[in-house]
Amino acid sequence: MSLYTDHLGTLQRQAESALERTGHDTLLVAAGIEKYAFLDDRPYLFQPNPHFKHWLPLTQHPHCWLAVRPGKRPRVVYHQPDDYWHVPPSAPGGEWVDAVELVVIREPGQAAAALADCVTPRTAILGEADAALPGLAPNNPEPLLNLLHWARGTKTPYELEQMRAAQRRAVPGHLAARAAFLRGESEAAIHRAYLVACGHTDRDLPYGNIVGLNEHSAVLHYQYQDESPPAEARSFLIDAGAQVNGYASDITRTWAAPGHDEFAALVAAMEAEQLGLVDEVREGVDYRDIHLSAHRRTARLLRGAGLVKMSEEAMVEQRVTHAFFPHGIGHLLGLQVHDVGGFMAGETGGVADKPEGHRYLRLTRRLQPGMVVTIEPGLYFIPMLLRELRASPHAAQVDWDAVERLSRYGGVRIEDDVACRAGGQAPENLTRDAFAAA
Ligand code: GLY
Ligand code: MN
Ligand code: MN
Repeated sequence: MSLYTDHLGTLQRQAESALERTGHDTLLVAAGIEKYAFLDDRPYLFQPNPHFKHWLPLTQHPHCWLAVRPGKRPRVVYHQPDDYWHVPPSAPGGEWVDAVELVVIREPGQAAAALADCVTPRTAILGEADAALPGLAPNNPEPLLNLLHWARGTKTPYELEQMRAAQRRAVPGHLAARAAFLRGESEAAIHRAYLVACGHTDRDLPYGNIVGLNEHSAVLHYQYQDESPPAEARSFLIDAGAQVNGYASDITRTWAAPGHDEFAALVAAMEAEQLGLVDEVREGVDYRDIHLSAHRRTARLLRGAGLVKMSEEAMVEQRVTHAFFPHGIGHLLGLQVHDVGGFMAGETGGVADKPEGHRYLRLTRRLQPGMVVTIEPGLYFIPMLLRELRASPHAAQVDWDAVERLSRYGGVRIEDDVACRAGGQAPENLTRDAFAAA
């Protein structure tokens, strides 16, 4: 069996079990519809229902549906309109076609008739409210969603292959972006170099690229790109991914320009700690502990760089590390960049709490083989947070001259995508493997 048919088999088994356990007999999934700007005829970029692209490598296919019933092949209702204004979806092609029962429709409303024999009083329909058709209104049953979201935390071998491919697609972009930075190009030009090297456009990136020079690296989700290069490009942070068949990569690198040795040393020290954190991704480890480990490592960095003179324990205890590392250590990754189910206490739901005082952590589960997570420690010089630190009782422990010098570089983040392996084995670093192969 191919990886894909094996993947479909796994999803079918998971769905059948989830349907039975939650009192349903059929699962319908709406791909979604295009949405339009208010009072306008321009659509926003289409975002497919992740439950739909979990089964099918179809990401630009509004008005399609999937039907899953126990013991039957999945049915795909494939919307292929006659349209001379746009390029309609191509004729169904690829490995998935042979694995499903296919019904092609020309108008969105025809899906209702194509699925009429699947609708019972116990049908679960997953989708956004605006995908509803007569007799097909999404009900999104929470107990069923919980089981499916929990299962999505663990990737099938097919999914891991897509995610490895999404790394290989992003890496040439990162290399091209770094070269453009070293040539002194603007943020916008660096961004374009990234897109060209990955074969992406802004339309199909898994998230908007974060491309920051100098102080802009201190803005965690910096959303603009200057068209003019700065007079001096000292540092460069790029957080950018790629997607393959609906699966994302999410990679951050930080670079120092030649001659900026103090910042280069900070980046190198961060890289050593980041690799240490990656190595903590092991079966059975509570991801919250990796996050707390990141705070201890941040304290070590701050002390090692002479930025804060407190003991490492006190720095963590007194939340001084929060001023420099104000986000979570990472998240689940997959069909969505911030994949679902990060806070689930178990397969039937419930919440695994964040450690107190760590509000931006996005994953609180114990790691299992096949989970893919990001490990993305950062150390930033963020004016708003530094003002608070300066007004705190710990201000006297900070070397403000060093902080001021390093503030001109914005900050450092290094982010890899990492798959947990079984039995305490070292993890698979999807990102570093792809850089090494490039
Ligand atoms: N690119 C957003 C993040 O790293 O979570
Ligand atoms: Mn990222
Ligand atoms: Mn991330």
